[in-house]
Amino acid sequence: MTDPVKFSFGLWTVGWRAVDPFGEATRPALDPVEAVHKLAELGAYGVTFHDDDLIPFGSDDTARDAQIARFKQALADTGLVVPMATTNLFNHPVFRDGGLTSNDRSVRRYALRKVMRNMDLAAELGAHTYVLWGGREGSETDAAKDVAAALDRYREGIDTLAQYVKDNDYGLRLALEPKPNEPRGDIFLPTIGHALAFISQLEHHDIVGLNPEVGHEQMAGLNFVHGIGQALWQGKLFHIDLNGQRGPRYDQDLIFGHGDLLSAFFLVDLLETGGYDGPRHFDYKPFRTEDIDGVWASAAANMRSYTLLKERAEAFRKDPEVQAALAASRVPELSVPTLAPGETPADLRNDKSAFEEFDPDKAAERGYGFAHLSQLAFEYAVGARL
Ligand code: GCO
Ligand code: MN
Ligand code: MN
Repeated sequence: MTDPVKFSFGLWTVGWRAVDPFGEATRPALDPVEAVHKLAELGAYGVTFHDDDLIPFGSDDTARDAQIARFKQALADTGLVVPMATTNLFNHPVFRDGGLTSNDRSVRRYALRKVMRNMDLAAELGAHTYVLWGGREGSETDAAKDVAAALDRYREGIDTLAQYVKDNDYGLRLALEPKPNEPRGDIFLPTIGHALAFISQLEHHDIVGLNPEVGHEQMAGLNFVHGIGQALWQGKLFHIDLNGQRGPRYDQDLIFGHGDLLSAFFLVDLLETGGYDGPRHFDYKPFRTEDIDGVWASAAANMRSYTLLKERAEAFRKDPEVQAALAASRVPELSVPTLAPGETPADLRNDKSAFEEFDPDKAAERGYGFAHLSQLAFEYAVGARL
């Protein structure tokens, strides 16, 4: 028996009341305690939250403490855990120009304090990951920002928070979540690649990694599987937001697998075999058309889609015909280093078989067989082969 997959959901996902730029809420508020109970019943292992999802912005200390106590009781009653928490630095108008990179220094200081306060709670609840999605960090006009100064402040903010985590022995790792745009016209750290490069400039880069979201890379027209492959390769895949997206357009936050199906198939294959051991976290929005029954149907659908794709990907890997096709396509050969053990650049320079005696025209004759391989994957993904 393999271990059950650890699925988690943000309170803001099932709790989304479906306010959009064109219309008001279609659903009543969902009590976080009810969300915890229902998610546990559906088979989730974890729940995550922004500070303001759990404790309404502006609550006094008494109301805050009471709400935290109710939430803790729900966790104790259900066995659900809190693997990750995050901060809302985008809803209140004070963050109209961002939190950590607002031009207003007093807003930046307030934003840092808001994050620290919720980090205290995250640590208390046993979270391992703290996500930072800078949705309002950016601009609509390039006149508004000195980009180098903004990145200086972003670095200062993240390093300050990482230092705070270390000073308090919170054991949290910080995970930055890239997104190209929405709600800002352009957001800083728009892609996995930008964020990885930024992390390399941090003092506390050792505890800072990524929380990439499927739809966000796809909004930028990028290959999410390749992005996750690189994040894993750099040891920086700390957490993941699974959902669906159909190409470059507004952030759809569809059910996982309901966007680019083949990409979802290869993503699950990679997550299950590539060394990621964190939660499979869904950051999606139930359709605005749905009532609460539709909300729970969509939550269950995320987990079911992932589980089905996991089964399909495992069957794909096990099939001898697939293994033969992979070998014919020389996929395993890419893992063989290009130079021989101990071989130097000078040795290669003197190896006649590599150049003078190598026949490029002959080597160019052979196809790679990727079309066959790709179709095999497709047939497994759609269940035509079991
Ligand atoms: C989005 C984002 C957000 C963040 C979340 C964490 O869809 O634009 O994913 O949902 O993940 O706010 O801070
Ligand atoms: Mn999104
Ligand atoms: Mn997200």
